[in-house]
Amino acid sequence: MRPYYPAPNLLNVSPHSSALPVGIFDSGLGGLSVLRAVRKLLPDERLVYVADSRYAPYGQRDDDFIADRTLAIGQWLMAQGAKALVVACNTATAQSIEFVRERLPIPLVGVEPGIKPAALRSKTRVAGLLATQVTLRSARFQALLERHSADLRVLCQPGHGLVEAVERCDVDSPALIALLHGYLQPMLDAGADTLVLGCTHYPFLDTAIRSIVGEQMTLIDTSVAIAKQLERVLTRDGLRAPATGDAPAPARFCSTNDGTHLHMLAAALLGIDAQVESVRIPSRRTLELEANAA
Ligand code: DGL
Repeated sequence: MRPYYPAPNLLNVSPHSSALPVGIFDSGLGGLSVLRAVRKLLPDERLVYVADSRYAPYGQRDDDFIADRTLAIGQWLMAQGAKALVVACNTATAQSIEFVRERLPIPLVGVEPGIKPAALRSKTRVAGLLATQVTLRSARFQALLERHSADLRVLCQPGHGLVEAVERCDVDSPALIALLHGYLQPMLDAGADTLVLGCTHYPFLDTAIRSIVGEQMTLIDTSVAIAKQLERVLTRDGLRAPATGDAPAPARFCSTNDGTHLHMLAAALLGIDAQVESVRIPSRRTLELEANAA
């Protein structure tokens, strides 16, 4: 079966489009930190969340794999009626947002590490940054760094092992604290007063990070900025859901694996007992993987 790659066309905004859901996608559970901010700012929006946990972490995948998954999941979310897509994954944004934007006829909002807010806040002019290896080596990230770090020294540290820990719902084990310590102590030693969380999984580690850095560092998480950008885009395109004044609209949670950990983290983070659907979203590269495994 070949995945469906539609030709780009214009989004037809009908009077009913505003009632359609917003799709939010991440390689796994990290995008829940973005979903939390979106629910808070835009409680009337219906949300469909996809965790591609079966293929996480993306930080260890090649560029083509990430572009292939991002496009396939965007198409799947459109087929579920999504009027806009939030790529709640720094890695997928850094590597493939332009590619996907050219191929999907709905507005896309991506995420990028908060270098700009770090440059505005740091007093010591030294900031630490944790992100995946794929994000750090991307041309998009390198351009971002060049734009905002003229007088800021940014210590870029690949967060090997951190996405895997969050995916298994480990946010405080001794092994995780030791791993984080190895990443953060050199930043503290170099005088960093700001830490950019350049991966949407990392806000789940804020308590563990605080246990190491105390109040010596300001943590920069961009999830609220992403929610605000989504608000601007929906308003610009006439796609804001009508206000009801009720409690947040229910979200639909989907996972490409069995969904157990998505259920656990949604309960811990959002305080909701989410029914998680296990979904199959085939793409060119995953069909190849399956064919090779058969
Ligand atoms: N949450 C993703 C990000 O923001 C994690 C990427 C991965 O799966 O390695 O980059």
